[in-house]
Amino acid sequence: MSEKVKVLMVCLGNICRSPLAHGILENKLDPSKYTVDSAGTGAYHIGKQPDLRSIAVARKYGLDITNQRAQQFKARHFDEFDHIFVMDASNYYNVIELASNDEEHQKVNLILNELTPGMDSEVPDPYYGGDQGFENVYQMLEEACDKISKRI
Ligand code: 4NP
Repeated sequence: MSEKVKVLMVCLGNICRSPLAHGILENKLDPSKYTVDSAGTGAYHIGKQPDLRSIAVARKYGLDITNQRAQQFKARHFDEFDHIFVMDASNYYNVIELASNDEEHQKVNLILNELTPGMDSEVPDPYYGGDQGFENVYQMLEEACDKISKRI
């Protein structure tokens, strides 16, 4: 039996964007073949539930992400995961900084490059905005995760 394919979603706090990406992709994949998790480059929110606005927009589309708890991205995640999707350029540089070889570096990509390869578009941080920001983020991540689920 072959090992599961493991995917990690990464943002800054692991409470707004990456928990949504985690929940959306997990819902599209066969759990006997894939593992999905998420992490933040920052340590501020370790152990916390996703932001209430992320929980609400996920629930609106039938997903329950309330069991998730924030963790910080560490170099060991390069060993544990096959694909690491980051939300913005700042996440990208913070993750790449911990890579120790080219193979690890190659595991990391901006999630929106799934939709527009090479454009390096970013999923905007919705933390300081309103509910519409979370809706926009959800729609972007839904489209990107659909593409990922068909490719990996
Ligand atoms: P996330 O959003 O990176 O999508 O989880 C943020 C959450 C918290 C903070 C920044 C971004 N913060 O500064 O506390």
